[in-house]
Amino acid sequence: MTRYRKVFSAFHNIYRLVTTFGDIQNFATGICRLYRSAFRADKVVMVCKNISSAGFLKVRLENKSQYIKKGGLSVLGRIEKQILKQQKEIISNNRLIYPFVFTDVLGAIYIKRSSKIKSFDEIEKKWFLSLCEEVSMGLKVFYSFHEQQKIMVSYIKSLSRFLNQYVPTSYLHTKPMFKLIKAMGKIMKLSEAEIKSLEYASTLHDAGKIQVPSGLLKKDAPLTDEEYTLMTKHPRKGIELIKNLEILKPAIPIILHHHERYDGKGYPSKLKKDKIPLGSRILAILDTFDAMYFGRPYRKERPMHEIEQELKKQKGKQFDPKIVEAFLKILKRKSIRKYLKSSPSKLSVTGKHQ
Ligand SMILES: [Fe+2]
Repeated sequence: MTRYRKVFSAFHNIYRLVTTFGDIQNFATGICRLYRSAFRADKVVMVCKNISSAGFLKVRLENKSQYIKKGGLSVLGRIEKQILKQQKEIISNNRLIYPFVFTDVLGAIYIKRSSKIKSFDEIEKKWFLSLCEEVSMGLKVFYSFHEQQKIMVSYIKSLSRFLNQYVPTSYLHTKPMFKLIKAMGKIMKLSEAEIKSLEYASTLHDAGKIQVPSGLLKKDAPLTDEEYTLMTKHPRKGIELIKNLEILKPAIPIILHHHERYDGKGYPSKLKKDKIPLGSRILAILDTFDAMYFGRPYRKERPMHEIEQELKKQKGKQFDPKIVEAFLKILKRKSIRKYLKSSPSKLSVTGKHQ
């Protein structure tokens, strides 16, 4: 009975692995573990197309060791090349091999029991074939999702370029900001997904300003009450523009609350302290830093020592003190200073390039 249960749960786990839409390495490792457990295999090898590059990914589980290799054709062994080329399963007593094909070849798997005494029986062979059909479809869905994600990312980039032309005051300098977001993510132990959402939010946080009159955006004097009220609507208007894009859903609360203040005097919800989403608390500091460091069309850039002082002054007022501390640590790093100084955005602002 146990083995029936293991195979049934394997089917269910494939579905879970597919719908998690994680990275391909975790997906392939998860699939290999699942086969090892369902078929009591001594060796499981899976090869598939790598998402981030044009090559392949190979995962091998053997006894207690796990081996992962990424690269071009050289990653593939003789059997894997043969199976991908012939696109035909090989079913023997102690070795089961299957090419994952769904319109085109997506990868292959083979499992092995080391001794002939432990041959796979007929039921296991049938299970293996059904499970492989399921994985083929799962892989196709997985790749399609990532393909769609690539399209969405290029859409976000175009949208951000358009925003930069229409609302230059809202523009964050993408490359240095992403560098800072990655460093902050590491120091604050954010997950890959949280870092990605923060990157998207930093790109589109002021998208709602597209509905604010441009005269108001360019105004460099204190705003009237009426103007201020109009301006405070831009986070909500921004999320209206992107709320139907699945990939951007985690970025919505970050964008909505990027003007909240740690002391509760911000907008739109006057949230205080930890009630403000962590991503918004980080983005608030990055947004201010970007404006001070790179300047804005109507505001001059400021030297680093002044920026540091200003950030310290706003600890517990505008900003979360812990995040300010983490950010100041990052700004102290020589590598970050050098990167910021040499960033094309900085050079073009100061006119030192060419
Ligand atoms: Fe904003």
